[in-house]
Amino acid sequence: MIIKPDGVQKKLIGEVLRRVESAGLQIKSLRLLQLDRATASRFYSVHKERPFFNSLVEYMTSGPVVVVALEAPNGVTKLRTLIGATDPDKADEGTIRRLYAESIEQNVVHGSDSPENGAIETSFFFNTNEMSLSNSLQE
Ligand code: CMP
Repeated sequence: MIIKPDGVQKKLIGEVLRRVESAGLQIKSLRLLQLDRATASRFYSVHKERPFFNSLVEYMTSGPVVVVALEAPNGVTKLRTLIGATDPDKADEGTIRRLYAESIEQNVVHGSDSPENGAIETSFFFNTNEMSLSNSLQE
């Protein structure tokens, strides 16, 4: 997942991570970083033909983000239940986007939409060593 610039700006890092951990998702690794245009464009390259692409890249580079590698059985479903629909107006009550997002673009968090994309997106930001740090933790 990514806590996007608006989420970091609104001081929601702790709140989002608390919800994620409480839902049973394990944090494998995380980092606060500033995306540059090239990296944000590459991360969102599936959307490059969309009318909102330039605006999305502008937004994602507008301030620091927190990238988080997560793991859990049914992790994608668990996370997506927690964050809600892309458009906060359509997100279920109590979800992160419903509670905190301003708009369909500035929606606080990104969550991978499939296990396959989850693997691609975590390896985009983290190497295997970084993601194995928590392996020694007790269940
Ligand atoms: P995310 O789940 O990170 O996936 C792509 C992002 O593009 C999305 O969240 C929003 O931030 C943004 N996005 C998706 N649809 C729209 C839209 N119709 N208009 C503006 N931004 C959008």
